[in-house]
Amino acid sequence: MLTPAQRSHYVDHGWLLVEGFKPAPALAAVRSRAQQIVDNFDPGHQRAVFSSVQPERVADAALIASAEAVHCFFEEEALDAGGRLVVPKSRSINKIGHALHDLDPVFDAFSHGPELAAVASGLGLVQPLLQQSMVIFKQPGIGGEVRWHQDASFFVTEPVSVTTFWFALEGADEGNGCLWVQSGGHRTPLRERFVRDGDRLAMEKLDPMPWPTTSQATALPVKAGDLVCFHGLLPHCSAANRSPRSRLAYTLHVTDAGCAYSPRNWLQRTRLPLRGFV
Ligand code: FE2
Repeated sequence: MLTPAQRSHYVDHGWLLVEGFKPAPALAAVRSRAQQIVDNFDPGHQRAVFSSVQPERVADAALIASAEAVHCFFEEEALDAGGRLVVPKSRSINKIGHALHDLDPVFDAFSHGPELAAVASGLGLVQPLLQQSMVIFKQPGIGGEVRWHQDASFFVTEPVSVTTFWFALEGADEGNGCLWVQSGGHRTPLRERFVRDGDRLAMEKLDPMPWPTTSQATALPVKAGDLVCFHGLLPHCSAANRSPRSRLAYTLHVTDAGCAYSPRNWLQRTRLPLRGFV
C-alpha cells in the first residue's frame, strides 16, 4: 500500500524508492536460485552477449527466444575475440531473462503477491501484466555500462503504461554501478524504440531530444531489499562496475492490459499467457 506522499512523489518525479520492501530470506532465495541457473547453464552452444551500448550485437534469435524462456547472456568483457570465456563462468553473466517470473518457481514466488499488486495499483496500473523479468548481475570489475534509455522503448503501449519494478538484491551505490535517473524526465518524449521486423531486431530513432547531462542526473543508492519503481519514459542509466563488489538486481517490466501492446515490440508472447501480480 502506498501513502499519498509516495504516490505524489511518483507522479512528480517519475520514480519511487520503497525501502526494505523485500525481506532478507526472499532475497537469499532468489540470489541462490540465480546462481544455480548460471551453474546449470552450458555455455558450450550459446554465446549471446548483451550490450545496451550496442544492442544490435545481441544475437537476435537468442533474444527473441528468451521472451518465453530462461536464457543467460554474457558480459561483453567476459569473452575474447574468439568467443572464449576469459573469466570464470560464475562471473561471466550479464543477465538472465526474460520469463523467469513465469517459468521458475522461486522467481515466480518473488514476482507475485498482494504487496506488489498494491504497489502497482498505487502507481496507477489498473490491470498489470508482467511482460518480462531479468536478473542483472553487474559483475565485479567487468559489469558493463547501461547507457541512458527509457524502458518504454522496449514495450510500446498506447497510451504509455510500462512501469519498471527494480529490486535491489544487493546494495548499490555510485561505486558499484547504481541506477541514475533524470528526476521528472518522464515528461520528456520517447527518444527511440526497439522493434522486431521478422527475425531482425533494431533500434529506431523517434525523437531528437538529447539524453540528460550529468548535472541533470540523480544517483539512486539502495540497500538490499529496496524496491525502485519508475515510469516507462523516465531516462535512466548505470555506470560500469569497476569495483570488486557485485551489484545484483532483479527487474520486472509491467504494462497495463487496458493499453494496446504494439505488435512491433521485440517481446511477443506466443505460448505463455501473460499474468498479473496475483
Ligand atoms: Fe532500463
